[in-house]
Amino acid sequence: MKVTPWEVEGIVDYSKLIEEFGMEKFEDLLDEIEKPMRLMRRGIIFGHRDYWRIVEAMKESKEFAVMSGFMPSGLPHFGHKMTMDEIVWHNQKGGKAFVAIADMEAHGVRGLSWKKCFEIGMEYVKAIIALGLNENSVIYFQSANEHVKNLAFELAAEVNWSELKAIYGFESETPLTKIYIPAIQAADILFPQLKEFGGPKPTVVPVGADQDPHIRLTRDLAARASIFSFEEIEGGLRIRSRKGSEFLRELESLNFEKKFYEGHVDVFGEKKRIEEEVRKIELEIGGFAFIPPSSTYHKFITGLTGGKMSSSKPESYISLLDKPEEAEKKVMNALTGGRATAEEQRRLGGEPERCAVFELYNYHLIEEDKELEEIRESCKSGKLLCGKCKKYAASLVVEFLRDLQERMREAESRLDEYEIIFPKHVGNI
Ligand code: TRP
Ligand code: SF4
Repeated sequence: MKVTPWEVEGIVDYSKLIEEFGMEKFEDLLDEIEKPMRLMRRGIIFGHRDYWRIVEAMKESKEFAVMSGFMPSGLPHFGHKMTMDEIVWHNQKGGKAFVAIADMEAHGVRGLSWKKCFEIGMEYVKAIIALGLNENSVIYFQSANEHVKNLAFELAAEVNWSELKAIYGFESETPLTKIYIPAIQAADILFPQLKEFGGPKPTVVPVGADQDPHIRLTRDLAARASIFSFEEIEGGLRIRSRKGSEFLRELESLNFEKKFYEGHVDVFGEKKRIEEEVRKIELEIGGFAFIPPSSTYHKFITGLTGGKMSSSKPESYISLLDKPEEAEKKVMNALTGGRATAEEQRRLGGEPERCAVFELYNYHLIEEDKELEEIRESCKSGKLLCGKCKKYAASLVVEFLRDLQERMREAESRLDEYEIIFPKHVGNI
């Protein structure tokens, strides 16, 4: 298997991925979450980094953010809907949402014209609004967000070529725009923590597993770009300064027991409170004081025709803009986990775990766990046959798309209720 931000190949083994990338298992946190969303309950969100920060913020009703981005290189489909649903769910749990339309990435890496990036980008904007994003959210095109572009420049100072080569496999032939994209994406993820947006806060980034290299790099950059670093010691924290030891003097005002050394300060007391106070000081003296972002990872969605969902194969996915009748046909033609003949299926039962239609139910179409289990059981026992089952799935898809597309049209007239950063001029090339 090959999983990178630029390429996903082969059959993905998620437990292996957790190990290789060093993610944490999501199921270990599941019990801590009040009313977890569908994708969490069903193990579709399988991994995370530091999600405990978000769990804590939700429990204590503290400020947190949710941020993710969409590359407008193809129309939004059910794969993107997963991320959108995750953003909206965190929104409903009290998180402030930041949504990037990655037009710089689509233009710089995929070569799409700015005009196309804008047109397709708008479909993502309407889709996430139609899916329930709340008005108090920030939606932006990367190319129009000066905060992101300035921060990217700043973060780029903290990473060098050999590191980029090791993480992304860049070569001497790689265009500079592509090399620069990780800095832009890191800035996407960190700008919700800028002073202008309320300062440092836990931020969760829901993404597909292929985006983890960006997350790892961003977590490192968050630390490198900030002044103070923290290390646990007996009874407190050891604080160092990455930007010169003169900054340590600023910690004199801390209201905790502390000991000053040549290159660090040991502070004693409740660790979380010390960290909060130090970040406040850092902000006052002009540092970023970033909190390393948290992330969740969802599984890839399989194509309806088996194999990968690919924007170059329209029959392999349902776009959120498909005509309901077209989508219906795609579902009826989907590869199932059924047997060669009806007789065989009655005798042996179907295989829902290998069925693209069941995956649609599981990821998207059926909210109630009980109903999902009933379908699974009647499939496995041979009571339910694929023809009838596909008809039901198709009817749910049709119903969903009619409703969503209606709400997307309505979203178009409500754009001004949101804080959206649009590009001012859109060139043709
Ligand atoms: N690179 C992501 C993709 O290809 C899109 C993206 C841009 C993104 N900025 C982001 C994802 C910030 C998460 C966070 O899909
Ligand atoms: Fe898939 Fe439904 Fe057929 Fe089972 S009955 S294999 S879930 S289409």
